[in-house]
Amino acid sequence: MTADAVLPESPDLLRADLVAKLRESGSLRSPVVAEAFARVPREKFAPEASLAAAYSVRDVVITKRDAAGRATSSVSAPWLQAEMIEAARLTSGARVLEVGSGGYNAALMAEIVGPEGSVVTVDIDPWVAERAGRFLAETGYSNVKVVLGDAEDAADEYGPYDAILITVGAWDCPWGRLLAPGGRMVVPLIFSTITRSMTFVREGDRFVGLDPTVCGFVAMQGAGTHPDQEAVLADGAVRLSIEDGPELQAAALGDALAGARTELWTKVTVGGGEPFDTLNLWLATVDDRFGMIWGDPDHDCDLIQLAVRWYCPVLITTDSFAYLTTREVHCSDPADVRHEFGVYGHGPRGAELAQQLHDHIQTWDRDRRQGPGPDFTLYPAEAVVPTPAVGRVFLKRHTQLVMAWRSHSPSPPAAHLAPAVPERHR
Ligand SMILES: C[S@@+](CC[C@H](N)C(=O)[O-])C[C@H]1O[C@@H](n2cnc3c(N)ncnc32)[C@H](O)[C@@H]1O
Repeated sequence: MTADAVLPESPDLLRADLVAKLRESGSLRSPVVAEAFARVPREKFAPEASLAAAYSVRDVVITKRDAAGRATSSVSAPWLQAEMIEAARLTSGARVLEVGSGGYNAALMAEIVGPEGSVVTVDIDPWVAERAGRFLAETGYSNVKVVLGDAEDAADEYGPYDAILITVGAWDCPWGRLLAPGGRMVVPLIFSTITRSMTFVREGDRFVGLDPTVCGFVAMQGAGTHPDQEAVLADGAVRLSIEDGPELQAAALGDALAGARTELWTKVTVGGGEPFDTLNLWLATVDDRFGMIWGDPDHDCDLIQLAVRWYCPVLITTDSFAYLTTREVHCSDPADVRHEFGVYGHGPRGAELAQQLHDHIQTWDRDRRQGPGPDFTLYPAEAVVPTPAVGRVFLKRHTQLVMAWRSHSPSPPAAHLAPAVPERHR
């Protein structure tokens, strides 16, 4: 054994450790995918990162930013790459399309599909495409075909594909036409500011979305771009975003943020690490003023207290908003740390929005929290789609996404659902 092999930062040790952690967390489930992660030298595709950063299970390596400082390209986090590749159920000999390149993910897939299969990876950015091709050649994966172009149609000529993996935030999904019968399409689909990676499988002329997984990706460029409406407040420390609706007035919203707030507490609590991702889906179902509030981690800003680091659900009008916050609840068992959901409302309609968000949270808690979450189905844009009894249809350019909640028997309101008393705070 050489000295290198025992250094704590040896790539081989870090890679083995990564595989062990991904197996333990359940992100890696099949031996063939684990074997690919054990073989491909991730650090060679992220030379700008330290070895520790390149092999961090949950961290993305950002490789390019735009003039405003937003990431436009990255090597995605290992846990998400593992989840998406597992979801695609790649087999030896499969033909794969990857949208959004970097090289690493394509190399993993090339390992799995083997010499009988093929991997095409397409990127709109010449800098990314050039370096992905170079890294792939240097690591022995020159059989991956790197295509420079807009994925809206740049990879059509190489299809059909048995699997399609989209590794960039997609507001629409024009790739169903390229999927071979029985194929799988894994897409981080954006609707109403929410992103969920889903695995789409064909059923007749529609695609059923399986296993919606919370994730975040860099934004799509080119023909598939669909920016949300955004208001930047407090010198960039806070952003509000909403997909549709009346034009946001940044100055009025900024004044609202700096002014007095309404505070409501819901008596709905959540344990440490307990997921509550169906809350956003519920809010997007029942309120078309639903959007996201973002806190910039590089700004010290005490004007907001988000329930979750980075971003939280919010109801927004042109000049007012109300968002989700939390406070710690003291339990008799100090090991049982729980947080109560609350709502802070700002602006002329802040109190009204806060009350409505508060009520939505209680309804979700009572009727929807324990369920499986909604079903997702993707239809062509021209199809006549069923209107869900409880749900929403998101109209896109090429497709329509139907989000439908299953019927349920609502449980009786719990004793803790007493009407909240608003308080005014500075
Ligand atoms: C998260 S990175 C891809 C990560 C990569 N799959 C990996 O190995 O981890 C997303 C990439 O999508 C690319 N992209 C954005 N819009 C695109 C489009 N319309 N067509 C093709 N690529 C696009 C960006 O240039 C960026 O490099």
